[in-house]
Amino acid sequence: SIFPSNVIFLFCHLRSGVTFIKILSSSHLLFPSGLEGYRRFESSAVNYSTMLLEADSERLYVGARGAVFALNASDISASSALTIEWEASTEQKLQCVLKGKDNKTECFNHIRLLQRFNSTHLYMCGTHAYMPLCAYVDEKRFIISSQPEEGKDKCPYGPITGYTALILDQQIYTASRYDFWSFPDIRRNAPTPALKTENAPTRWLNEADFVGSALVRESLGSSNGDDDKIYFFFTEKSQEQSTTYSHSRVARVARICKGDRGGHLTLQKRWTSFLKTRLTCSLPEYDFHFNMLRSIFVMHGLTPQDTLFYGIFGLEWKNVKASALCRFSLSEVQEAFRGPYMESQDSGSTWKEYVGKIPEPRPGTCITGKLKAKGINVSTSLPDEVLDFVRRHPLMSHQVQPADRRPLLFRRTTDYTHMAATVVQGVDEQMYHVLYMGTDEGWLHKAVAIKGQLHIIEELQLFEEPEPVTNILLSTERTSVYINSPSGVVQLPLSNCERYTSCYDCIFSRDPHCAWSGAECVDVMTQSNSPAQDYLQVGSRRRMK
Ligand SMILES: *[C@@H]1O[C@H](CO)[C@@H](O)[C@H](O)[C@H]1NC(C)=O
Ligand SMILES: *[C@@H]1O[C@H](CO)[C@@H](O)[C@H](O)[C@H]1NC(C)=O
Ligand SMILES: *[C@@H]1O[C@H](CO)[C@@H](O)[C@H](O)[C@H]1NC(C)=O
Ligand SMILES: *[C@@H]1O[C@H](CO)[C@@H](O)[C@H](O)[C@H]1NC(C)=O
Ligand SMILES: *[C@@H]1O[C@H](CO)[C@@H](O)[C@H](O)[C@H]1NC(C)=O
Repeated sequence: SIFPSNVIFLFCHLRSGVTFIKILSSSHLLFPSGLEGYRRFESSAVNYSTMLLEADSERLYVGARGAVFALNASDISASSALTIEWEASTEQKLQCVLKGKDNKTECFNHIRLLQRFNSTHLYMCGTHAYMPLCAYVDEKRFIISSQPEEGKDKCPYGPITGYTALILDQQIYTASRYDFWSFPDIRRNAPTPALKTENAPTRWLNEADFVGSALVRESLGSSNGDDDKIYFFFTEKSQEQSTTYSHSRVARVARICKGDRGGHLTLQKRWTSFLKTRLTCSLPEYDFHFNMLRSIFVMHGLTPQDTLFYGIFGLEWKNVKASALCRFSLSEVQEAFRGPYMESQDSGSTWKEYVGKIPEPRPGTCITGKLKAKGINVSTSLPDEVLDFVRRHPLMSHQVQPADRRPLLFRRTTDYTHMAATVVQGVDEQMYHVLYMGTDEGWLHKAVAIKGQLHIIEELQLFEEPEPVTNILLSTERTSVYINSPSGVVQLPLSNCERYTSCYDCIFSRDPHCAWSGAECVDVMTQSNSPAQDYLQVGSRRRMK
């Protein structure tokens, strides 16, 4: 192994022939002031929380409270920032206060959705002082291009209400508990009819608090003509009974098929493909069950089947600081959706595994090529019996265990809020997952996953005063990590190899980005065109062209 877990002995061969033998110390700690490549964007706006950066784009779009910005993605501190100011009027704010809302947090326009709509326009939604509105943005001129439209069916009313949204083929998928009185639901606004989750007689979602969603293109390379799917991640009130321990909330993944058109009579204007199951992230030896899903990062693989879901979990006890990080493989999530269903005999009773007969075609599956060949080419042609079964059995019996069978990381006294990950090829030509995790106190932890364990290799304090990290985005094209917080946006390089000035420090950084060239510590990801040279990382070397 190139990164043994705690103590590493290493022979660090310098060109001079001097050999060092050292024992690994703990992770690094430093402040970003003076850190090479540290950039910061600030304005009169606060509460930065949404970001959009596309692969070939020069611009980083950022949504805050009352404003949206187009920043130079190479250097967010450059003076070229474009701004759209979009705040609620004084009159609207007054209305908000009269509704009993907080004039320091809720009675503003917090941008909750900011995504591409088509090749020329972006789409955004804001809470707009408890009266959500949405608007198109002309990307080139960076202005709101038409009168804002009603947003209460797509955007939550509050700034911290759990929410996730995706725009795919100009159809808007959102999941939230939109206002305080309504039930949470997952919906799609087009094509007509708009589809939603079911509330009665079987409630598909139970006080769900959404943290993320993702499209997985499962139609690509599918042998049975499968459909693409959209996965939603949330925490909700538990329905299933448990004999081993008590918990009132559980982490879940739900999925729907992209081609779903709802049912004909049964499940009209409702999803016919909604299924959900539990994600577990536990440390049984301590009897710790991390039931609260705080954030999810979807790592797309070489094929859709290789997709991994990284989740940050917390404990239900609000006064205990602790985080666990678990990752789940798509194939195990799919397996749970192919397994037995749960059933509740009457509303209010606990759910048990369903052991009866399952109608055909299997309830909750997408309209595959196979079904089309049988004449069922759209979900409205599914038999009533199947739709009725789906309606009453949204929950699967098998839970999804982490791919590593336990958390990759468990930290007491740290509350991680968001994370993002990337793949780095080390000098040994192995692929390493490098994670960037933000805390509620404004720290950024960089970690590398090795053999089912996460090793923190760098800890950075991002702000002078503690403030929570509210979003993280990575760009390998820009070799940057972008971090949102209430006060602004920070840009940092993905690696900082130059700051290790000795062979020893470079190698013991354990950063798969960094390798010793014989004279300096370099980022191997950016060195492919340098002159022939030997690079050294822990336990391996490579000659590069
Ligand atoms: C918005 O920012 C202010 C000031 O930094 C902070 O006090 C407040 O908690 C933030 N609100 C939300 C909803 O993030
Ligand atoms: C963005 O910043 C980079 C680096 O500072 C600069 O070279 C480039 O011209 C800027 N682009 C725009 C569109 O301002
Ligand atoms: C909120 O209302 C209080 C009194 O109700 C007032 O003192 C305060 O200035 C208001 N804050 C803002 C940001 O409007
Ligand atoms: C994109 O959508 C906007 C808003 O509906 C529309 O005005 C614009 O013409 C569309 N652009 C293209 C290229 O279709
Ligand atoms: C489904 O098949 C029928 C008959 O084969 C056809 O008339 C109809 O247009 C098809 N519907 C869709 C949505 O493809």
